[in-house]
Amino acid sequence: MSQSMGTEEAIKRWDNFAENYSENHTEQGDLHKEIFLNPALFSLMGNVKNKKVLDAGCGEGYLSRILSKRGAAVTAVDYSPTMIEIAKERTPKELNVHYSHGNCEDLHQLEDKSFDFIVSNMVIQDLADHEKAFRTMYRLLADKGIFIFSILHPCFVTPESGWERTENGEKLHWNVDKYFYEGVYEQPLGDKENMLLFHRTLTTYINTLIHTGFVLESIIEPQPSKDMLKKYPSFGEDFRCPDFIVFKLRK
Ligand SMILES: C[S@@+](CC[C@H](N)C(=O)[O-])C[C@H]1O[C@@H](n2cnc3c(N)ncnc32)[C@H](O)[C@@H]1O
Repeated sequence: MSQSMGTEEAIKRWDNFAENYSENHTEQGDLHKEIFLNPALFSLMGNVKNKKVLDAGCGEGYLSRILSKRGAAVTAVDYSPTMIEIAKERTPKELNVHYSHGNCEDLHQLEDKSFDFIVSNMVIQDLADHEKAFRTMYRLLADKGIFIFSILHPCFVTPESGWERTENGEKLHWNVDKYFYEGVYEQPLGDKENMLLFHRTLTTYINTLIHTGFVLESIIEPQPSKDMLKKYPSFGEDFRCPDFIVFKLRK
């Protein structure tokens, strides 16, 4: 896979996929967000009432709408123009969400120290330059501000990973390979689009965050709750290994 494939190509693919991607999002997001990511994000975030929050890479905007309903003043950015259009269409005027088009690696249109919280849900593995993105988030946060982000778990979701199955399709165990490869790879999403993902080791993520100046406060490797398992029993297999990791950092 050519290392020259970067953020622009990744976003072209997101833009083509935006309509399909948004179709399976309710006001709780998709199933993975409802079961794993939302409980983790909200437990780390606490009370957002009257806080200035940036949703960095907002997609179709479900998280921005939830945050706004919880009393936050939300700015939401995405680099896919179609995602931003869909998010605007889906967001009632009375919600306090300001959407704009922008690349999380830069966001020059936003002022230094203008947010209390930044949340970025499943975005950082989709962009080529995580160092620039982390520096941008650091710049945009007020002193002591909080940055919470989720990504595919880099120890388990690698450029070559997946279930080892029997001939009958029964799942035996989860295989992981190419962990130390760092760079771009393709992953199918839906039946049409091959998305670009950028793999980094856990060491790279954590060291980059530390070098940027962040203090690591907490991490969560989300598992389904009892209530969620009752609602969606097939997610029991997610006790075997985590798909996601969520970081909470302080400036
Ligand atoms: C997996 S989706 C997650 C969307 C949303 N955060 C959610 O949880 O529903 C990834 C989103 O990140 C956006 N994205 C990817 N790279 C970006 C970048 N460099 N700057 C801003 N948005 C980006 C994509 O357009 C897409 O909407």
